[in-house]
Amino acid sequence: MSKAGRLVVLVSGSGTNLQALLDASADPSYGARVVAVGADRDGIEGLARASRAGVPTFVRHLRDFPSRADWDAAIAADIAAHKPDLVISAGFMKILGAPTLDAFPVVNTHPALLPSFPGAHGVRDALAHGVKVTGCTVMLADAGVDTGPIIDQEAVRVLPGDDEAELHERIKTVERRLLVDTVGRMVREGWTVSGRVVRIGNHIGGENS
Ligand code: GRF
Repeated sequence: MSKAGRLVVLVSGSGTNLQALLDASADPSYGARVVAVGADRDGIEGLARASRAGVPTFVRHLRDFPSRADWDAAIAADIAAHKPDLVISAGFMKILGAPTLDAFPVVNTHPALLPSFPGAHGVRDALAHGVKVTGCTVMLADAGVDTGPIIDQEAVRVLPGDDEAELHERIKTVERRLLVDTVGRMVREGWTVSGRVVRIGNHIGGENS
């Protein structure tokens, strides 16, 4: 088997998606391991999870840079230092700039069925719209807000009486499994993108042997 794919995971919060990737990569047959965790803020559980797992971390606050372009360059350099095969934006609350997007494939996860309800409040917006089915989307990140080519999706029913927190927790249970499964398949099998259509398999994107 080829060597494990190198994942750099970016977080801004609780990091349960990160934890799912850390747990999955404990099994060598998963085919990938988390080599670093980056964040845009301190004091978050996502960074604590990385430290407990012995994974190196880096933090770049936007406020510490004279411009967004300087922040973009700094975080891209931090990511590059860990030589990732794949970057995972797992609850990272910043749009990545060209220095990262042009250098690495970036997988993003979102708690709604895109293209419906993009943005920071996908669960709240879906609830307010009255949809009966929502879910989660794993996509390739591009320069837009949740606009990249969709890799995989799974549906979650909205239950009567759901509030945002309850629905988000049910979505996240599915989202973690979908993210782990999708990332594992990408690193093991490669992927191709044709227009907006992503297909896993054939070892084109993500070749790491
Ligand atoms: C996930 O639902 C992600 O899609 C959204 O924020 C949540 C992050 O959860 N953007 P966690 O930090 O991985 O627990």
